Amino acid sequence: MLIAANWKAYVGDLGKARTLVRIAKRLSRKTKNDIVLIPPAPLLGMFAGKNKSAVSFGAQDISSLTGGAETGEVTAAAIKASGATYVIVGHSERRRAGDTPTVVAEKLTRALANGLIPVLCVGESERDGEGRYLSFVREQLTSALRPQDAKERKKVIVAYEPIWAIGKTATDAILVNDLAEMVLYIRKVLAELLPGKTSARTFVLYGGSVEPGNIRDLAATSDVDGFLIGHASVDPRMFAALVTELS
Ligand code: PGA
Repeated sequence: MLIAANWKAYVGDLGKARTLVRIAKRLSRKTKNDIVLIPPAPLLGMFAGKNKSAVSFGAQDISSLTGGAETGEVTAAAIKASGATYVIVGHSERRRAGDTPTVVAEKLTRALANGLIPVLCVGESERDGEGRYLSFVREQLTSALRPQDAKERKKVIVAYEPIWAIGKTATDAILVNDLAEMVLYIRKVLAELLPGKTSARTFVLYGGSVEPGNIRDLAATSDVDGFLIGHASVDPRMFAALVTELS
C-alpha cells in the first residue's frame, strides 16, 4: 500500500521536519508499504534531493504555467529538479483557494510532461440522497483526465478525499462500506477514461481523517491502494502507528 503524508502547512520548523523524515526512513526499512512524504516546497527541496532511502517525496502543488516571468510560481520542472517523484494536484484546499477544473487539468498536464506522478484529488463537499455527489466526482475526474493523452492517463493516481471528512477524527471519517462503494464507482469512471483494461491498475487512495484507529478497517474492507494522510502524518507517534497498523 501507498502511505502518502501530506504535511500541508503544519510543518514550518526544520527540527520537526527532520524528525518526521528520520521516522519515515526508519519505518520504511521495516514495512512493505511505500511511504511518500509531501512537505511544503522549500523543505521538500532540502530533503528530496539528497534522499537515498526507500522513502519517496512529493510536492503539495505545482504551477499550471510552464515558467518565465511569473514571480512566485513553482513549476513542475523545478519540483522535479528538487528530487520529488509525486505531486498532489487538485487538493480541495487548493481548489478552495481558486484552482478551477481547467487549472487542475493544466497542472495535471504539467506534472505528466515533467515526469512527476500526479496524485489527483477528487471529492464532494457533502453527500446528498440523490447521488449528486457521484456525478460531481465523475465530473472532477473527467475534466482533469480528458485533456491528457490516453497513455498519460494511466500514470495518474487518484485520491478520493471527501471534503466533509477532511481534518476531523477517525469517528468522522467515511464508513467502510461507503468507501468501498465509492472506490468501485471511481474505478468504473476510470474504465471509461483509460485505454483497455489499464484502469484496473490505477492506484486509488483515500484521504480524510485517516488515523491509527480506522486505517486498518478502511484498508481491509475496500479496494483502496493506500491513503493520503494529513494531520495524523505530522504527529510522529500517530504516523508511526499508521504505518505499523498497515504492516
Ligand atoms: P486529514 O487530511 O488527514 O487531516 O483529514 C487529509 C488531506 O486533506 O489530504
